[in-house]
Amino acid sequence: MGQHSPQFGSVADVAKRLAEAGYLADDAIATTVFLADRLAKPLLVEGPAGVGKTELAKALATATGADLIRLQCYEGLDEARALYEWNYKKQLLRIQASAATASGESWDEVHDDIFTEEFLLARPLLTAIRRAEPTVLLIDETDKADVEVEGLLLEVLSDFQVTVPELGTIVASRRPIVVLTSNATRELSEALKRRCLYLALDYPSAEREREIVQAKVPDLAPKLAEQLVRTVRALRAMELKKSPSIAETLDWAHTLLALGLSTLDEAAVKSTLGVVLKHASDQERAATELRLN
Ligand SMILES: Nc1ncnc2c1ncn2[C@@H]1O[C@H](COP(=O)(O)OP(=O)(O)OP(=O)(O)O)[C@@H](O)[C@H]1O
Ligand SMILES: [Mg+2]
Repeated sequence: MGQHSPQFGSVADVAKRLAEAGYLADDAIATTVFLADRLAKPLLVEGPAGVGKTELAKALATATGADLIRLQCYEGLDEARALYEWNYKKQLLRIQASAATASGESWDEVHDDIFTEEFLLARPLLTAIRRAEPTVLLIDETDKADVEVEGLLLEVLSDFQVTVPELGTIVASRRPIVVLTSNATRELSEALKRRCLYLALDYPSAEREREIVQAKVPDLAPKLAEQLVRTVRALRAMELKKSPSIAETLDWAHTLLALGLSTLDEAAVKSTLGVVLKHASDQERAATELRLN
């Protein structure tokens, strides 16, 4: 099995290097990342939209000087897209070329030739396993894939090897750091969860969110950042179809800056609400509860 050499010296080291990569991690995040790295286990990050799941994997790659290989999951994703497939077009051309030149090659020779490395199309899982350089493998939105894909992931993530019948077994020479994300639109299988460390991500504390805003939108006045975060949190406390996430907080911060607003008063909230709330019913509810009408 491929070797994995730990990348982080301590929990504090994780937090420090993630922060340098632009990601502010609280203690739970830093600890789970540290353990995932130390125990060489995949990290499953679950939580609502826009709370920083994908960004964590990206920051982890930056922090460890690794390249990010991403497998984006969706309904209908199959082995050919996730793992590998044969390059049929190229194989066909090779067969035609052999026939055209009347080279006298036997079918066995042609067959042996077209099932070699040259004709293999590696997809993200195989690519990540074969890389000799430091790699973070992001398996994004795992819950969107069909259940069968989990079986495939189980195989790959248990042994970090892939068997291509025509080529043999390919073993990772260097284990990638693996991050799986899920919006929890469905439960992932217990078998898959058992192989992972689990991190539940939720909306951050007010203080942390303010720090994120200040880090990502440094030109926004601190007082405005504070008002902004307070308002977003008030919106999250309402029964909305879709609560605003950190992504929306940051969009709102950029909006206020672009409009040159110096305070988030009722008029400002009213005219920019579409940046954070994207359902008419949510906007109506917010307007009523914040008494904007
Ligand atoms: N702890 C954090 N530190 C810095 N930035 C953060 C943090 N958490 C979230 N962000 C910012 O929030 C935004 C949304 O994050 P991201 O895209 O990772 O969300 P997500 O959880 O993957 O959402 P989705 O489920 O919709 O894919 C990003 O722009 C990211 O920069
Ligand atoms: Mg994401």
